[in-house]
Parts: sequence; structure tokens; C-alpha cells
Amino acid sequence: MTQIKFRPRRSCLYMPASNKRALEKAKSLSADTIIFDLEDAVAPDAKEEARANACAALQSGDYGKRELVVRINAMDTPWFAQDLKQACQSGADAVLVPKILSADDIVRISALMDDCDAGRDSKLDSKLWAMIEMPLAILNLKEIAALGAEHRLTGFVMGFNDLAKEMHAEHDRGVFGSVMTQTVIAARAYGLTVIDSVYNDFNDPDGLETECLEARKLGFDGKSLIHPAQIDTANQSFAPQAGAIAEAEAIIAAFRDPVNAGKGVIVVNGKMTELLHLKQANQLVATAKAIDALAR
Ligand code: COA
Ligand code: MG
Repeated sequence: MTQIKFRPRRSCLYMPASNKRALEKAKSLSADTIIFDLEDAVAPDAKEEARANACAALQSGDYGKRELVVRINAMDTPWFAQDLKQACQSGADAVLVPKILSADDIVRISALMDDCDAGRDSKLDSKLWAMIEMPLAILNLKEIAALGAEHRLTGFVMGFNDLAKEMHAEHDRGVFGSVMTQTVIAARAYGLTVIDSVYNDFNDPDGLETECLEARKLGFDGKSLIHPAQIDTANQSFAPQAGAIAEAEAIIAAFRDPVNAGKGVIVVNGKMTELLHLKQANQLVATAKAIDALAR
């Protein structure tokens, strides 16, 4: 049931919703997705103000084609219920919930999201994204991902700052290799978007690029970011490269050639090329077109 997603999510920029300057600045930044953060980046005393700022920003219509996501506080906090309700009612494209542990969490949250429709003429259609940052979530990946569209769940975002803390591990990329692979596999098995964790050293573009390229190779759609200086690197790293686009176009053209009509396997540029490669080529070209459309 793998689904092809064409919405680019190369760069998903977190910003503390308590920071009005950042909220303003994001209107002109080229991030594909903006994540208004109400959780880790917001101090307890600023939670209510951050929620109000995020809701006002969502309703402003000032963020153009950017996808707008709100990361709310976790289910066991006093802010969760209001965060969820107001984020849905403000028209967020998705609500990102941290510290998810199990499939039951997803069922409960999606039911609460359905309750937000009560008394409304039209259904709210905010999607649900889950942070994958707790050891139990890793153990329950398949069950969580399998709930998929039935429970609004459409995306996973990795959170390695929390996962390192919970595992008592060093925050070293090498530690997370197997978790990254497992998460991508679970996401793809059930048609979910999957976004890599943040790179904390925002003054190190080379380190960021290394992580982005590694994540792209593994199949991630994009990277979550913490600073505007990281956007261009992520956008370039996760966009289909010129060589790959040319190769995909050659495959599409070859399968369209009447001499190859009805064939399941052909040779393109000296390589065995099957119908599955044609599917991949179509996906890559569609992704490149979607990125072009965002820029216009
Ligand atoms: N989104 C939008 N704008 C941001 C931003 C962000 N995440 N981070 C910084 N900016 C803006 C600043 O407001 C500043 O704007 P200005 O030029 O209008 O004054 C400009 O970018 C430069 O910021 P800079 O001075 O380099 O950064 P800083 O020292 O003020 O802040 C951080 C550094 C890390 C505290 C800040 O980038 C941040 O809060 N990032 C997000 C943290 C977060 O959301 N964490 C949760 C997920 S892990
Ligand atoms: Mg966290």
C-alpha cells in the first residue's frame, strides 16, 4: 500500500512559537514546511502565549504555499488538550505530537481530533504526525504506522535529542543508523512521510549536508531544521539532482518509444531497466516538478 507523495518536505523548520521575530521571519523563508513549536523550545510560562501566537499565525494566511504544522505538547502535559483543539481549529495542515509511545496513543489523539469537528458544518482535515523519539515508539513502529490514514496519521518525524536522552546514549549519528532504517521502512510500508531529526550545530553547514545526504540515501523526505541558515542545504540535498532527472527522463522516453511497446525490461544507457524503474523515474520527475511549482 505504498503511496507516492509529491508534496516536497525537504526542509521542515521548527520555530519556537513564543518567538515573534522568528514567526515574522518565516513568512519569507524558503522552508517547505514550518513547524510552530509549542513543546521543547517553549518555557512553561510562555506556553499559552506561544499557542495564541501559533493560532494567529495559522489563520493569518501570510505563509504562502508553505505547509504549516504545529508541534503541540505531549499527551501527559496540562497543555495537550487545548493545544490539540486549537491547532486543529486554526487550520494547521498537520499536528505533530511528541513522545508517542503506541498505536493506542494515535487512536486516542485522532478521536480527539474528530471531536473538534463537533458542531461544525465542514470537517476539519488536519493530519496527524508523530515524533519517533521514545524507545517504546521504536518497539511499536509497525503497529503505529499501520494505523495510517484511518486515524489521520500521515507522517513520522525523528527526534534524536530525546531518543539519545532516553537511551542513555551519546548523541552520535552512528547510534541511530538502525533506527533510521526501521523508521523509513515502517513509514514506506504504510505510505507515510518520514522526516529526519535536527542537526544542532547550526553553524556547521558541512556537517548538516553530510546528514542530509545520508538521510536522502536512506529514503527520508527531508530534514527537520532549527535555524534559517540550514534551509538551503536541506533544499538542495533532498531535491532530485540534475543528473538523476536526466536519467529519469531518458527512462520515461525509452518506455514511450514504440519499439519498446509492451516490454517489461529494456536497456537504457547500458543498464537493465524494468517497469519498476519507470515508476521510480515518474516519481522523481513529479517530485522535481512539485519543487518547481513551490518556487513559482
Ligand atoms: N525560525 C525562524 N527564524 C529564526 C529561527 C527559526 N528557527 N531561528 C532564528 N531565527 C531568526 C532570528 O529571529 C533572527 O532574526 P532577525 O535577523 O530578524 O533578528 C535570525 O534568524 C538570526 O538568528 P540568530 O541570531 O542566528 O539565532 P539566535 O541566536 O537568535 O537563535 C536558536 C538560535 C537555536 C535559539 C534559534 O535558532 C531557535 O530557537 N531555533 C529553533 C529551536 C527549536 O524550535 N527547537 C525545537 C526543535 S528541536
Ligand atoms: Mg523533544
